[in-house]
Amino acid sequence: MIERVESGIKNLDIHMEGGFPKGMSVVLYGLPGTGKTTFCLQFVKKGLDLREPCVYITFDMFPRDLKTKMLMVGIDYTNYVDSNQLILIDGVSKRRIGITPEEERFYIEDPRDLNSISKTLMHALDTAGKNGRLVVDSWTSISLNFSPSQSLSLVRFTEALILEARNRGYTTLIVSDFATDETLLKILRHICSGFIELRFETEGESPQRSLIIHNMQFTNHRLGKIPFNMNSSGIEITK
Ligand SMILES: Nc1ncnc2c1ncn2[C@@H]1O[C@H](COP(=O)(O)OP(=O)(O)OP(=O)(O)O)[C@@H](O)[C@H]1O
Ligand SMILES: [Mg+2]
Repeated sequence: MIERVESGIKNLDIHMEGGFPKGMSVVLYGLPGTGKTTFCLQFVKKGLDLREPCVYITFDMFPRDLKTKMLMVGIDYTNYVDSNQLILIDGVSKRRIGITPEEERFYIEDPRDLNSISKTLMHALDTAGKNGRLVVDSWTSISLNFSPSQSLSLVRFTEALILEARNRGYTTLIVSDFATDETLLKILRHICSGFIELRFETEGESPQRSLIIHNMQFTNHRLGKIPFNMNSSGIEITK
């Protein structure tokens, strides 16, 4: 029997046999504003509620803004961060504003140095403990630092990350957006075990948010669009 990891999204798990297969990596793909980060935070909230360790590496959003978003989805992060049950890795500050972040103990010195990203990430996973949840938000931001001729290193890095996370009992969400090179996206989809697309359609009478589970290994999942609403506490699927 495959152990399942609850997604944290209300009414989603019933569409995928109870949750994500434990230890697997799932790509979350969608345009800006479709809800990828919100989804990831709800995934983390569920983990924290279940006393699982959670590691979130942010390359798009400053940790301060991510923390504001955390509070919005109901994550009172202070105690979790203090006890290392939740580790935030700052992949933004050093790159964007060139300063060494004072606030986060874990940060990425140089996002073009895949070895150092790996090292920091593994250190964070080992500090947080086994059998948890990992979020990479976003993988696209890492990939944009590499030219097509360097993509092999990126793919090897990603494969290693997926395996190392799995060996520690971590289930991983990998965020990818429209800026991902098409070929790279296909490769990412191939090396991960699941692929979920988030959509926001504004044409027609009423705007509609939905998600599609395109692929989920070991899982008899629902096919086609699953509509959802987004409110202050996040994504909610109506039954
Ligand atoms: N309180 C709220 N109620 C309803 N919708 C909200 C609320 N707060 C944010 N949103 C919607 O959620 C969107 C942001 O979602 P989120 O940051 O999760 O998207 P994302 O896919 O991660 O985007 P990006 O690719 O830019 O990182 C906003 O653009 C807005 O449309
Ligand atoms: Mg986001």
